[in-house]
Amino acid sequence: STNSKKNGDGALEVGGVDVRDLLAEHGSPAYVLDEDDFRSRARAFKEGFKDFDVYYAGKAFLCTTIVRWVMEEGLNLDICSGGELAVALRAGADPKRLGFHGNNKSVSELTRALEAGVGRIIVDSQDEISRLIELAAERDLVAPVMVRVTAGVEAHTHEYIATAHEDQKFGFSITSGAAYEAVARVNEAPELQLLGLHSHIGSQIFDSSGFEVAAKRVIALHARVSDELGVDMPELDLGGGFGIAYTTQDDPADPAQLATEMGKIVEHECRGFGVEVPKVSIEPGRAIVGPAMCTVYSVGTVKEVELDAGASRTYVSVDGGMSDNIRTALYDADYSCTLANRYSDATPTLARVVGKHCESGDIIVKDEFLPSDVQPGDLVAVPGTGAYCRSMASNYNHVPRPPVIAVKDGRTTVVIRRETEDDMLALDMGAAQ
Ligand code: LLP
Repeated sequence: STNSKKNGDGALEVGGVDVRDLLAEHGSPAYVLDEDDFRSRARAFKEGFKDFDVYYAGKAFLCTTIVRWVMEEGLNLDICSGGELAVALRAGADPKRLGFHGNNKSVSELTRALEAGVGRIIVDSQDEISRLIELAAERDLVAPVMVRVTAGVEAHTHEYIATAHEDQKFGFSITSGAAYEAVARVNEAPELQLLGLHSHIGSQIFDSSGFEVAAKRVIALHARVSDELGVDMPELDLGGGFGIAYTTQDDPADPAQLATEMGKIVEHECRGFGVEVPKVSIEPGRAIVGPAMCTVYSVGTVKEVELDAGASRTYVSVDGGMSDNIRTALYDADYSCTLANRYSDATPTLARVVGKHCESGDIIVKDEFLPSDVQPGDLVAVPGTGAYCRSMASNYNHVPRPPVIAVKDGRTTVVIRRETEDDMLALDMGAAQ
């Protein structure tokens, strides 16, 4: 994060807090959340995209503290489950500022969203449209709806997180005509209010041409709806997915520049079709919270493993692993790391940072040069773990999930406490009390 540096001892300091002190007080491992960094990234999107609405995508990382920061910075919130809705409402979020996603929202989730007065429900299937019509009719309510469409673009990202090609579960296809049909149906239903189209092409995307192609196809549909149904939909959501730098090779876009580019495309296309420019919104998650957190681990064992041709690799085992960061194992994600508790001038050696779980795929950082004197008791920090690490954490092997400790101006605040063995055993109905 921006407010991190190595201090005179060579130890990592985040938000004015030495991570050695942080771990001594709060235990190891821990996620360290830089409040100022989070807020300034949120603000950069808000200010950069000043003509847009910005919905922070809570799936990247959500807790009540984050909801409050998001609301204070003037952003809205994208949620995609009853659980995320519960966090938002518990934090006192204005329901009007929530957008509710999901390809299989349950009757109970839809009911809660409707009754809470959620600002937009993004519908993803004909079944869901039927369900929403029925639920709204029973309550004599009108549900504000956006229609999730797939633009048929191949986003350049990992297959599991690309969402706008044809053969996947999300949205209504523009190409097949399903999207137009869905929009027409929503438009006819008196129980539904048609707000606009929604397109999200995938996550961790750097190549802006994907956004551009998708935006053009979505706006063409927006214009067709205006033409043939005589409805000017007031809104348009272009989703999230803006990539961040995990290693130094990546080159993330600046929000203001992205905004200018996206704004231009929308305006140009709308003008081309002679339709009014709708209110555009976007949904960044990773680009706001990703760089704002790092994970600090303690080294437990160091092992030298011989490779072919006389080469070797140092396996550095830390006190966490795929249960607090599944991204390396799941998406082959690249992370970097740094020795965080001291200065070392030992020669760098090729190291792999692995966890404590019982499988060899339990890798956090595939390849990194660490000082060759790295040893048990050292601390290792992995930057860029704010997005999709705590939110996808598990209890695999009954390893309790680490806490999230916010830092600011030299002070720490526990925003999510460490999970305990008692927490885990509390769900085990056979455990003696
Ligand atoms: N809007 C919608 C409708 C989404 O599905 C997503 C992400 C976002 C916004 C936010 O995307 P972002 O700006 O954070 O890239 N677990 C995967 C990422 C899954 C993304 C799912 N949807 C990972 O760790 O890379």
